[in-house]
Formats: sequence, structure tokens, C-alpha cells
Amino acid sequence: MPRILVVHHSKTGNTRRIAEEIAEGCDAEIEEIVPRDPHLGAWGDLIDGLQAIAGMRPALAPAVRRPADHDLVVIGTPVWCRSVCGPVRSYLQAHAGQFPAIALFCTSRWPGGASVLRDMAALCGRTPVATLALREHEIVWRQYGARLDEFLRLIGERRVEPLLAAHEVPA
Ligand SMILES: Cc1cc2nc3c(=O)[nH]c(=O)nc-3n(C[C@H](O)[C@H](O)[C@H](O)COP(=O)(O)O)c2cc1C
Repeated sequence: MPRILVVHHSKTGNTRRIAEEIAEGCDAEIEEIVPRDPHLGAWGDLIDGLQAIAGMRPALAPAVRRPADHDLVVIGTPVWCRSVCGPVRSYLQAHAGQFPAIALFCTSRWPGGASVLRDMAALCGRTPVATLALREHEIVWRQYGARLDEFLRLIGERRVEPLLAAHEVPA
């Protein structure tokens, strides 16, 4: 059975909510990316924003699961100052070269998710099999069902490829 891992960071729950729905929709394991020293409150948001602008990579708590043990890794980030959030940037760097197939998603308040997804793909060094950029209001009002279904369909197509290939190998 192909193994899928959904990794994400979330401060206020939007990205976590989508990560949980993706994991449920494709029968995946899930892992939250946790900074070693989380920045809390308004002051913490300011530090996180400045670090995101500077492309800094905060230290992370140890990961439990290894991307290399999976067939596909779904990676989700909130947009911070038009960038990948610091903890996800750290995770991508820590696991560079270890990613199998990837799918990417992000959540943001304003438009601009597409460029963050492109940056994430570049940091992974891979072309994603599926991408999904959701806005906060879509999440709050649950207006993402059809797009999430399409994202899961693309992941599902990628997931069955190795099985089909095994069956189709000529005797
Ligand atoms: C430090 C910080 C910077 C942010 N910068 C942006 C931004 O540049 N563009 C945007 O659309 N949303 C921005 N947001 C809003 C978040 O991307 C949005 O609320 C997201 O859904 C939060 O995800 P979460 O609930 O998983 O933490 C920012 C939020 C924080 C905390």
C-alpha cells in the first residue's frame, strides 16, 4: 500500500484543518512541523514575519516521520509576508534531496499563494503532482470542497501509478 505523509505548520489552525482533511481524504499519516521555540502573540507574529522576509530557518523540534519512508509527501504552509513560513522553510531544507513525489498547499488571507507554492517547489527541487492555494475566508466558510476534491484526485492518480505499473509489467 503506497504511503502518504501530510506535513504542515499552523499557528491559528487554518493550515492544520486543511492538512487533516487531506490526510483523511487520502488515508495518509500526518505530522505537524513544530518550531523548537514558538513565537507567541502579536510580538511573535512580528518576529515570524521578519524572519520570513529574511528567509530565516528557525530550529525545529525533532520530526517523528521521515519523508523518505513515504511514496508521496504533501506539504502545507501558511503564507507569512508573501513567503513560505519559517518552520516549513526549515523543514524543506532539513529534508532536501529526501523527498519522493510531492504535493503542495498553502493558506493565506490575501491573494498570492501561487508564488509561494512555486517557491516551495523550488526549495524541494521537485515539480508537485498537485497544488492548492486557499484563502482564509474560503476555509472559514468551507468554500473549498470542489478544489480539495480535485487536489485529492490528482494525488490519487499519482498514488495508483506504481501499482498499475507493477500489473502492466509484461511476463
Ligand atoms: C506572521 C504572519 C504573516 C502573514 N503574512 C501574510 C501575507 O503576507 N499574506 C497573506 O495573505 N496572509 C498572511 N498572513 C495570514 C496567514 O497566511 C493566514 O491567516 C493563514 O491562513 C494562517 O494559517 P494558520 O491558521 O495555519 O496559521 C500572515 C500571518 C502571520 C501570522
